[in-house]
Amino acid sequence: MDKGQEILRRLETIHNLPTLPVVITKLREAISNPNADAKKIAQIIEDDPSMMARILKVVNSALYRGRQDVTSLQMAVARMGFNAISNIAMSTTIFSIFKSSGPTGFSHEDFWRHCICVGIGADVLYERCKDNLSKRYTPDILQLSGLMHDIGKIVLEQFFHASFRQAVTLSVEEEIPLCDAERKVMGVDHAEIGAVLAQRWHLTPDFAQVIRWHHKPMSINASEEYSELIRLCHTADYICNLERIGDGGNLTAPSFDQKVWGSLGLSVGDISEIVDAIKQQSAHSEVLMAFV
Ligand SMILES: [Fe+2]
Ligand SMILES: [Fe+2]
Repeated sequence: MDKGQEILRRLETIHNLPTLPVVITKLREAISNPNADAKKIAQIIEDDPSMMARILKVVNSALYRGRQDVTSLQMAVARMGFNAISNIAMSTTIFSIFKSSGPTGFSHEDFWRHCICVGIGADVLYERCKDNLSKRYTPDILQLSGLMHDIGKIVLEQFFHASFRQAVTLSVEEEIPLCDAERKVMGVDHAEIGAVLAQRWHLTPDFAQVIRWHHKPMSINASEEYSELIRLCHTADYICNLERIGDGGNLTAPSFDQKVWGSLGLSVGDISEIVDAIKQQSAHSEVLMAFV
């Protein structure tokens, strides 16, 4: 058994891998019911007042371009839909699923800022190139995709701590992207590890695919159906790393697949405007950073 298989096997046997909060599980169950109604969904959230406050804060924030003006949860559910509310609920809870594991040189705050800003970046890119895309994405999907894309890193940091530290050090010493260093040290990278967690959490395929393929968007194994979302996150991730918006643990930016830019219908002339827009919009990360 090689190193990567060994780590994946060990991961399968970790029983204390974080689980989703009960309220999220309840929400998902309620949504999957064909007779789901807005009142019932709102009720589940209203039973958790801090969750309710967080959701209202987010939907009325600049992340949703302040256009919602939502004063009650029922209004939020009616306007935005069940799935969006469930995704936003998840966006405000994910930080508490992983506890900071102490002074390790891996800043949870910087890490989450990176992830939030990749979500913001994916949204900026989508708004810019949506006429060239075949699929429509709502802001909650784009933001939660970014928020979760690197989730495997936090699993590695908590459960394979020594090896992960070694990978971080190697990536600095050899000036190589962290995912390459992870594969050198552990035989597996955070995208593969994240995919295991996505499976354990029964995440929907859009998020699972972003987590698995955000470094290899053109892989023949990546699902065609979610390819556009994967490419948006891949590009946003590259820009956030390059511009050092937050800290995804990469001193060397992960490699960028040049074909992706053109495939989104963007030209070289668009680069600086998009980078500027992402830098500017990244200030909107504060609303979610308040929950870290
Ligand atoms: Fe990554
Ligand atoms: Fe990243």
